[in-house]
Amino acid sequence: MEHNNHFITCTILIILLTLLGILRQDCECTSPSLAPSPDLTFADVRLAVVYPIIQSFKLTITLDPLGITSSWVGSDICNYTGFYCDNPPDNTSATTLAAIDFNGFHLAALTLDGFIDQLPDLAIFHANSNNFSGTISPKIAQLPYFYELDISNNKFSGQFPSAVFGIAGLSFLDIRFNFFTGAVPPQVFSQALDALFINNNNFMQKLPDNFGSTPVQYLTLANNKFTGPIPTSIGNASSTLTEVLLLNNYLTGCLPHEIGLLKKATVFDVGNNLLTGPLPCSLGCLESIEQLNFARNYLYGEVPELLCGVKSLVNLSLSNNYFTKIGPTCWKLVKSGVLDVRKNCIHGIPDQRPYWDCFNFFSHPRACPTYPYWWWRHWQYYVPCKIHSPPPPMPPKSSAGPPPPKYRPASSSITYSALNRHRLR
Ligand SMILES: *[C@@H]1O[C@H](CO)[C@@H](O)[C@H](O)[C@H]1NC(C)=O
Ligand SMILES: *[C@@H]1O[C@H](CO)[C@@H](O)[C@H](O)[C@H]1NC(C)=O
Ligand SMILES: *[C@@H]1O[C@H](CO)[C@@H](O)[C@H](O)[C@H]1NC(C)=O
Ligand SMILES: *[C@@H]1O[C@H](CO)[C@@H](O)[C@H](O)[C@H]1NC(C)=O
Ligand SMILES: *[C@@H]1O[C@H](CO)[C@@H](O)[C@H](O)[C@H]1NC(C)=O
Repeated sequence: MEHNNHFITCTILIILLTLLGILRQDCECTSPSLAPSPDLTFADVRLAVVYPIIQSFKLTITLDPLGITSSWVGSDICNYTGFYCDNPPDNTSATTLAAIDFNGFHLAALTLDGFIDQLPDLAIFHANSNNFSGTISPKIAQLPYFYELDISNNKFSGQFPSAVFGIAGLSFLDIRFNFFTGAVPPQVFSQALDALFINNNNFMQKLPDNFGSTPVQYLTLANNKFTGPIPTSIGNASSTLTEVLLLNNYLTGCLPHEIGLLKKATVFDVGNNLLTGPLPCSLGCLESIEQLNFARNYLYGEVPELLCGVKSLVNLSLSNNYFTKIGPTCWKLVKSGVLDVRKNCIHGIPDQRPYWDCFNFFSHPRACPTYPYWWWRHWQYYVPCKIHSPPPPMPPKSSAGPPPPKYRPASSSITYSALNRHRLR
């Protein structure tokens, strides 16, 4: 009698769900398919715990062009494509699901909620080049070992995923190539990250004042709509900041001399912004710099000889600005192919802007906002380091021919690779 009622209830339910078009799987009137089947034996109780979570996530996947999920069957979770097991820190004789690497799997699902936030020992989640969307659940903060989140090149949209601020151990955050918009909360620059990649989204805001509080080595904000000046706090990142990409934004104002404090920096790129004013002499203190890009801005004045004397430089790009003068040390770099000064206003150098363009530019007053002119004038010549061997000046109008080109390839840059939408690690 009771069994019969159950059957009728289930039949009605099937009809209702079918009518509503909701039903996708066969309705099993017995136990729900999410509980581990009694005939499965797991190598560890921790794997039995994650089994139903993976299986229910599998049901939410709407596209799987590579057939990845067909391997997600049975109790051998450590052998599922994209899943990696390890011994958890709290019990080195246990085996647990520690990492997920879905890079390039092209899976689609409407959300990751109820999946990554429910895998108790998960440390790494990489999902570059998939079609995931939705939001990141604040429950992800409950995962004690979590430290790498890569959801780059997916379909995430809306505000910055603030849930990540709760993850105490997070060190790598890569959300580039999504559709995030609005402001980046200042907390992200106070978080103990090593790498922050937020390029190629739609973030629009003035860079926050605590920008330089960030302890990251690698920072990419390129290809967004960031505005306002480069914060002077950038100097506070001098002991860690190694590669910085700010290119293709709407940054304004003059370059703060504090940039010159970044003695670890090998890459600094603010190309294609709306920056103006002179290059501060402090740039001569960038003792590790290899690639320095200021191209396509409204910078002007003389290129500091101190900067051109930096031995580590491989590529100094100043093209498409309004510089008017270079000295002998810089001239040497032009000849050796390190310094690009095309499309400026420098007399006696080929491929400069037409006269009327330069005339127009200089007939408008150009000032650095925020501080008075004398203030910038003072800091423009400030040199916050000892330059050990001042570069010897070139003999005037040397007739000995150009010096042999000193070609050194730049060390491979992690941040420039981040401008490619595909996987990073
Ligand atoms: C892992 O799966 C592959 C097929 O996907 C199979 O050939 C192999 O035997 C499995 N390894 C273990 C340890 O079960
Ligand atoms: C550690 O894990 C093993 C394997 O799962 C288990 O047998 C053991 O009881 C665990 N030890 C503790 C202290 O939880
Ligand atoms: C996402 O899905 C669309 C089709 O819906 C497809 O064209 C696109 O290549 C997919 N992207 C990725 C990264 O898999
Ligand atoms: C930068 O460091 C200085 C001195 O350590 C500190 O006073 C200042 O508040 C810091 N600025 C920011 C924005 O972190
Ligand atoms: C130098 O840097 C500029 C700006 O990033 C880039 O366009 C150019 O290709 C680089 N040159 C070389 C030789 O790598």
